[in-house]
This record gives sequence, C-alpha cells and structure tokens, in this order.
Amino acid sequence: MTLVIKGGRVIDRDGERVVDVVIDNGVIAEVGTNLSGDRMLDAIGCIVSPGFVDLHTHLREPGREEAETVETGSRAAALGGYTAVVAMPNTEPTQDSIAVVNLVRSLGERAGLVEVMPAGAITIERAGKQLAPFAELASAGVTLFTDDGNGVQDPLLMRRAMEYSLGLGITLAQHCEVSRLTDGAVMNEGSCCSHLGLPGWPSIAEELMVFRDIELARLTGAGIHLLHLSTSRSVELVRAAKAEGLTVTAEATPHHFTLTDETLRSFDSVFKVNPPLRTMADIEAIKVGLRDGTIDAIATDHAPHPQESKEQPLDQAPPGMLGLETALSLALGELDLDLLQTIALLSWKPAAIARLGARHGGPIAVGRPANVTVFDPDLSWTVKPSLLASKSRNTPYAGRTMRGKVRHTIFNGDAVVVDGTAQR
Ligand code: DOR
Repeated sequence: MTLVIKGGRVIDRDGERVVDVVIDNGVIAEVGTNLSGDRMLDAIGCIVSPGFVDLHTHLREPGREEAETVETGSRAAALGGYTAVVAMPNTEPTQDSIAVVNLVRSLGERAGLVEVMPAGAITIERAGKQLAPFAELASAGVTLFTDDGNGVQDPLLMRRAMEYSLGLGITLAQHCEVSRLTDGAVMNEGSCCSHLGLPGWPSIAEELMVFRDIELARLTGAGIHLLHLSTSRSVELVRAAKAEGLTVTAEATPHHFTLTDETLRSFDSVFKVNPPLRTMADIEAIKVGLRDGTIDAIATDHAPHPQESKEQPLDQAPPGMLGLETALSLALGELDLDLLQTIALLSWKPAAIARLGARHGGPIAVGRPANVTVFDPDLSWTVKPSLLASKSRNTPYAGRTMRGKVRHTIFNGDAVVVDGTAQR
C-alpha cells in the first residue's frame, strides 16, 4: 500500500519546496506535484521534515518499568515527531553487555514506533572503574556510549576510553559533573539557592569536566559529545574548542533554554533535574550557542519518574523531567531560529552524532528510508500531563500553552502517528 503526504512544505538539508511525498515499502518512492497513493495524509499548512532524533532518552526498561517502558517511551517519542531515540544506559541491569543492549533493541522493534538505539555504558555498571567492552558492543551495532547520570570521574579511565574508541566508529558522550563538587546538591548554586537554604550544584562542577574532556580530546585525537550543557561558560569552552577544530559536539535540553532555578522557589520537585536549571544569563548563552552552531543538537533528557518518587522531599526526590512530547513546541516557540535551523538541531545534526544518518535525518528524496515528521508550526495546544503518552507525569510545563504540534510521524514507511494520534 502506498502512502502520500499531500501538500506540505518540505524542509530538509537541501532547502525547501512544496511537494507531495509518496512512500512505498518503507522508502520514499516519489517526490513531486499532483501525486497520489492508496492512503493520503493531509499536510496542507504543515512542515514535512526528516524524522527527529533524540540523543538523550531514558526509557527505564529493564528495571524501572513503573516509570516508563520501551513501548510507552517510544509512543511519547513518535508523538513528539521522533523516528529514533538513543536510550540511555542507566537501566537495571545497566546496558553494558550485549544481552541487555539486545533486549532493549528488541523491545523497541516489538513496539515498532521509533528506532530504539540503546547506548552502551562507558564503564561496567556505570561505576566508573572498568571500561565496558566497546568493541564487542560496537559489533552488535551500538554507536554511542555514555555513563549518563554519572560523569566518568577518573581522568585516566576517560583517557583510555577515548583511546579505545578510536577506529571503532562510535561516539563517546559525557555527563559533565565532577561529583566531589555536587554531593547532596539539590539545585543550582547561586543567589536563589542561598535564599532557599538548599545545597547547591555549582556551574564549575560541569565546566571542569567540559574543560577536561576537551583537553583529553585534544590529547587523544578522539571525539567527545557533551551532554545537556547548562552553563554559559560551558558554551564558551565548546565554542573555543570548535574554533580550534577539535572533534567536540554538544547538546542542550529544552528545559535548560526555557526554565530557571527561580522555579524551585515553589519547592516543587518537578523542577529538580540534573544538571540543574540555571540562570537567565545561562539560558541566553545556550540560545546563542544553539543559534551560532556551538551547540549541535536539541536533546530531551526525557527522564520519567513516578509521582510517588517525585512527591518525596526535594532532597530525596530523583532529578529529571519529561521531554519528548514538548521539545518541538519549545524549540519553535522559545528559540529565535528559522525552521531550517530548528529542524537541523532536532533531526540531521543529532542523527550524525548518533551515527544514525543512513536511516534518519536524511533528505526527503527518492530511495531514502521513509522516516518523516509532519508538524503544524502554528497549532496551539495546552500541556495536560494526563494526556501525555509517557507512563510518568513529571512535566514541568503542565498547563502551559505552546505553539507547534506534530501531526503525522512516519517510521520506516509506517504511519505510526496520524493527526496527532498514535496508531499503535
Ligand atoms: O535529571 C536527570 N535525570 N539527569 C540525569 O542525568 C539522569 C536522569 C535520570 O535518569 O533520571
């Protein structure tokens, strides 16, 4: 059965044009005007783009299925316009072996809503002591490795990880946090935190590791991807590293370009996240970084947590917030970027970092795998936590009205979201 996306404005890395797109057997079969197919998806007034790729999704399975499963997280992703997500390895057990990685991948295949690419851990059990078997995991198709949730504290081990990564065709990604400086921290260290009397997470704890890993990249010749940058100085360090030609990439989350530490005056743990929400000056720096190419990708750090655990006192509640279903709207509404730049940050740039470019983020062109997002950039909607597909409800944007919504998502030629509704 052929599918035709009718009348949309196609935007991909080759530019933009108003065309119909015919999909047949999982690939883009025809692009042009006045095309027809067995099934029609209306795209008038909408943008048709390569599917989005999230570099940073916590799917929680195996181990914490009460928070999210591969299936519920995949559904949230598809509704957010994603056709691929990199699943973070802080599962239980950790994604540090072929068995666990294959389990997550096969759960993703069973859900059939997006490509689930399990990230491997850099160290066994993310304990920071012993390197995971990169070569073996890479041969099983793992392309990105991180201890996310933890930074790799030991500089010698990180140096060895970078040396080991060379030639394997993999990306190392760092959660930048010197944990000696953040013990017991609840929120950003600054005037708001002093006022509230809460233990602070200083910016320098991130920036020291950003600096260290840039220097290790220089020393080893390996690349490094820096996860969820949150401070203005981190952005400056990455900008300088790129100017020198080092292989450094970086991402920022929607919450780090939309919310400040002032939100924690509510003492509501929905605003507790790691790294923490920072200041308006940091938000401005991240926005500039996204605009000038210093930051390569918007990544969600979608981190579901059940209500009971978020209802604990602030110091005990786990950090993290949902992100998959609100990222596009926040990118459209809060960054002063044109559509091409916005889509690049959500689609082909993260696809390249995760080494998924053969299947995702490519141009809307004949012969390409049909991983496509259709969104209405003007549709306004209000975030209602109970209507989100995620199993958890910890969105910091409850009640907020946003502009821009995904209308259809096509994954491997299959219309998995149609008119804003998941089809499975
Ligand atoms: O806020 C966060 N939550 N940051 C992380 O790095 C981990 C994540 C989680 O797993 O909940």
